[in-house]
Amino acid sequence: MNDAEKNIAEKFNVSTLIWDGKALKLIDQRKLPFEETYVICRSPEDVFEAIRNMVVRGAPAIGVTAAYGVALAALQGKNMADISGFKSYLLSKIELIASSRPTAVNLFWALERMKKIIEGKNNYTNSLSSDVLTEKIVAQAEEIEKEDVKINKAIGDSIFRIYEKSIEKYNILTHCNAGALATAGYGTALGVIRSLHSAGMVKNVIVDETRPYLQGARLTAWELHRERIPFFIITDNMSAFFISQGHVDMAIVGADRIAANGDTANKIGTLAVSVLCKNYSIPFYVAAPVSTIDLNTENGTSIPIENRPDDEVRKIMGNDVIPPYMPVKNPSFDVTPNEHISAIITEKGAIVPPFSENIKNIF
Ligand code: MRU
Repeated sequence: MNDAEKNIAEKFNVSTLIWDGKALKLIDQRKLPFEETYVICRSPEDVFEAIRNMVVRGAPAIGVTAAYGVALAALQGKNMADISGFKSYLLSKIELIASSRPTAVNLFWALERMKKIIEGKNNYTNSLSSDVLTEKIVAQAEEIEKEDVKINKAIGDSIFRIYEKSIEKYNILTHCNAGALATAGYGTALGVIRSLHSAGMVKNVIVDETRPYLQGARLTAWELHRERIPFFIITDNMSAFFISQGHVDMAIVGADRIAANGDTANKIGTLAVSVLCKNYSIPFYVAAPVSTIDLNTENGTSIPIENRPDDEVRKIMGNDVIPPYMPVKNPSFDVTPNEHISAIITEKGAIVPPFSENIKNIF
């Protein structure tokens, strides 16, 4: 990337979430790409609604937002004189936020980290004032946000352990949005694409539109456009055509939860892309932080799959495409079996098969 390009990338950096010490400002992802507006969360209830209603989405972004939800709860309740009452109140808010969405494990991972701060080793936090505990909680949420950006950049670097920097340029297909909008910044799958682009190695990004919520067409394309990374959008049913015609060199997607054996839950439609890649012998990569790996989930069959409202299928951007009496189904995620995955690209490097063995070794 030359200096002018670097300036553009800097200028168009996406602010998914902005914490000012009192409130959390979230870019309203439901309105993109047509409107850049923000929703302000001042309470854990606001955060719960924002996650449930998709103001913010994407596994790592949900985790960071949830952590700030606990920080907001602490700021609201810190006048409680009784520390054990304060702690129970905070734990009840954690439970509320945990019920917002079921599939992305980063939500539970971030809340678990917040819980550890609240409980403290051997319950030492019982001797703290609510004020001091609040400071620790806010600091932890800020730390989770900072770490996420660092981790995503490291995930981006890990791609060069598979593809050495060269003059080769690749056509890369991606599904859903695993970009800056889905994280605290930079992105996971889109972070890898950003890193490859900085090295001059991207010919074109092929963006699946990702029905029903259109995260690809609305969000990924918006990010790529802002950074002037070459791309074009296709409807989901066109990927077989482009792959079969030799127009795709690799596919890279994010993840909502990776089981201990490598089976990976990601946005509905990811499984279809993985099947195509396997059929046409094209590398299929999952890019995700280690926090998306859930060692407590043995394999993909036990990953909870969220069913979202029927209207997301009945309508496109609020406009009816079928009459309301027609039955529909709307599972929001599917599971790609580990044998379809060429490598899981993490901040600690690329994990290759056999995943059951190699995932364990990364911890
Ligand atoms: O329903 P969403 O938009 O939250 O689903 C998002 C995805 O499936 C992403 O691919 C995944 O969370 C990875 S984001 C870095």
